[in-house]
Amino acid sequence: MKRFLPMVVFAGLGLTACTSAEKRESPWVAPDTASLSFSDTLVRYGRNLIAHTARYLGPDGQVMQITNGMNCQNCHLQAGTQPFGNNFSAVSATYPRFRERSGSWESIEKRVNDCLQRSLGGSPIDSLSTEMRALVAYFCWLGKNVPTKTRPVGSGLHPLAYLKRAADTVKGQKQYVVKCSSCHQMNGQGVRHPAKAEFIYPPLWGDSSFTTAAGLYRISNFARYIYANMPQGTTYQKPQLSAEEAWDIAAYVLSKPRRNRNFPGDWPAISTKPIDHPFGPYADPFSENQHKFGPFPPIEAFYRELPAK
Ligand code: HEC
Ligand code: HEC
Repeated sequence: MKRFLPMVVFAGLGLTACTSAEKRESPWVAPDTASLSFSDTLVRYGRNLIAHTARYLGPDGQVMQITNGMNCQNCHLQAGTQPFGNNFSAVSATYPRFRERSGSWESIEKRVNDCLQRSLGGSPIDSLSTEMRALVAYFCWLGKNVPTKTRPVGSGLHPLAYLKRAADTVKGQKQYVVKCSSCHQMNGQGVRHPAKAEFIYPPLWGDSSFTTAAGLYRISNFARYIYANMPQGTTYQKPQLSAEEAWDIAAYVLSKPRRNRNFPGDWPAISTKPIDHPFGPYADPFSENQHKFGPFPPIEAFYRELPAK
């Protein structure tokens, strides 16, 4: 008899379990930094390295001078905790994992060095360095409540449908002037902090910006990132750009010059390249220009119909 009691109390209070749809709607929330204990110095250092990378590793860095001066946080917002702000919620749960770009199994350390080399135009750091151990400790702490092999809601970037047409650099330039140039400047070079070794507004193109080998150099990633996060302060719940504006501005910014980095081992299986990977060779007949700016639906259709051919 005793055993039924909790059930009766449960029903009496009208408590119901969440449906899976309800669970799906609320994005992941990072653990509270207030829960860090005094001895969690590595986690704290890892978080600082994400938020203020340039102070440690930038051109005037205290530890090494190996990067272009950007912070990881410029693209992984709020130290990698922002829903659809390219957050790190899935890192500890999904690595090591197989990645088509390298055609190999990648550790967290390899993935960190990817962004260091491609997004920050830098050199890789030793996997036993204090900096790498701190970054890994931070990712493990961030993901401590995420079950293995799952990607929480709000991880990565917000979905955005392809346009039917090619993205338009001329329309994009007009929008850029109105919506982006006040912070990132007309020349795209951002604004450096006068006293600290980092940017107030990071650069969008040119030598100090991310390289042509970076994930953000793919137009879909750029459009998805700005759609949910820019102008600064935007959240995915209240985007300030239409989908068209996001694609067109992305086309304009990505048509500007930046440092070229080429990793010849990338995409060993060319048919697995994302359709907006802007460099050939491809397993399809479409031009490099169409892979860079679209229209993408015909390329998508080509691959969808491939198995039938
Ligand atoms: C210019 C923007 C940019 C900067 C700066 C940047 N990243 Fe990234 N990072 C990205 C993008 C975009 C992705 C996702 C790419 C993809 O999936 O194709 C990513 C992915 C990652 C991932 C994998 C996330 C996952 O869930 O699979 C890790 C880890 C990571 N970055 C670490 C870092 C670290 C550490 C730094 C600083 C040293 C950094 N990034 C700086 C743009 C950036
Ligand atoms: C009010 C100022 C402001 C405006 C306006 C603004 N941004 Fe940003 N943007 C920022 C700041 C600050 C960051 C870095 C965020 C951080 O480190 O927390 C950033 C980061 C970025 C990044 C990733 C880092 C990089 O340098 O590549 C991109 C891409 C970007 N913004 C694009 C845009 C675009 C496109 C627009 C116009 C639609 C825009 N931003 C409007 C302030 C702004």
